[in-house]
Amino acid sequence: MLEKLEALYKEATAALDGITTSDALREWEIKYLGKKGAVTEIMRGVGGLPKEERANLGKRANEIKNALSTGYAEREVLVKEQELAQDLETGAVDVTLPGRPRPVGGLHPSTQMLRNFYTIWAEMGFQVYRSRDVEDDDTNFTLLNIPPHHPARDMWDTFHTTTPGVILRTHTSPGQIRAMREFGENGTQPIRVILPGMCYRYEQVSVRSEIQFNQVEGLAIGKNIRMTDLKGTISEFAKRMFSPDTRVRYRSSYFPFTEPSMEVDAECLLCHGEGCAMCKYSGWLEIAGCGMVHPTVLRNGGYDPEVWSGFAFGMGPERMINLKFGVQDIRYYWGNDLRFLEQF
Ligand code: PHE
Repeated sequence: MLEKLEALYKEATAALDGITTSDALREWEIKYLGKKGAVTEIMRGVGGLPKEERANLGKRANEIKNALSTGYAEREVLVKEQELAQDLETGAVDVTLPGRPRPVGGLHPSTQMLRNFYTIWAEMGFQVYRSRDVEDDDTNFTLLNIPPHHPARDMWDTFHTTTPGVILRTHTSPGQIRAMREFGENGTQPIRVILPGMCYRYEQVSVRSEIQFNQVEGLAIGKNIRMTDLKGTISEFAKRMFSPDTRVRYRSSYFPFTEPSMEVDAECLLCHGEGCAMCKYSGWLEIAGCGMVHPTVLRNGGYDPEVWSGFAFGMGPERMINLKFGVQDIRYYWGNDLRFLEQF
């Protein structure tokens, strides 16, 4: 038995010396030291031996087992080192390879344009006021001088909720009423705000119309505000938005909540008034609706129209992007096509 053990020891040591890979090392461990390994087997047989032999063999078997375990550990360090050196040599880890690029997101073009608006209007003394998207019928229409059954309600096809009288705002103009009531202190304080936000209209989606879009409303209330103030303010805005030599013209129009009302055109950015496909050969592009706040609206906001006056305007950021970049189809904005969005 003892001879068998010594032979096994010799064999195992010799085998260990020739090992160069982790795989072979693992096999060696199973073969000699594992649960069913050769050394373990002999140790298990020790109990069944005659007394005289038992102590001797048991002692030697333990020694051999310890010696093999130490040999194994030393060999393992050696093999691991060799393998790493080999890996580096063959380039399995090439530290000079470039990293994987991470996709970086960007701001939606509408968000960028809205921020443009905030900057320009802030420079001109207008604060941002966020009015609500879900409005009541009264504020969206009636208080803006659009009574029930007034034909002008057709201009704003409406999304109704299941609660009667609660709708999605069709324009940002109801924010005029909310701003006057919130900041006017019962019609005693001047106001200069812009009201940005999403508007909703129940429309057939097409190249020219979407069911949602942004508007930026402007409102100025004071004691001596006149139409020249409105015209000067809008003209200055157009210069800052487009270029310092941009010309602007005003056409008479109609909105129930302003009197008089106008539509504003800026000189075509592409042809500078010569006439081209973008401006439909008119030389002008429409950029805003505006007017002097109607006395009824001032009164509904808590102001005395004999003492106070004001102007209001409404602009479309998406429309502004269309003009600046020649975008032809409004559906791109909420179509989530990265090929469009990534261009901004
Ligand atoms: N609310 C109008 C629209 O949706 C625009 C507008 C705002 C006109 C303010 C005049 C004054 O078309």
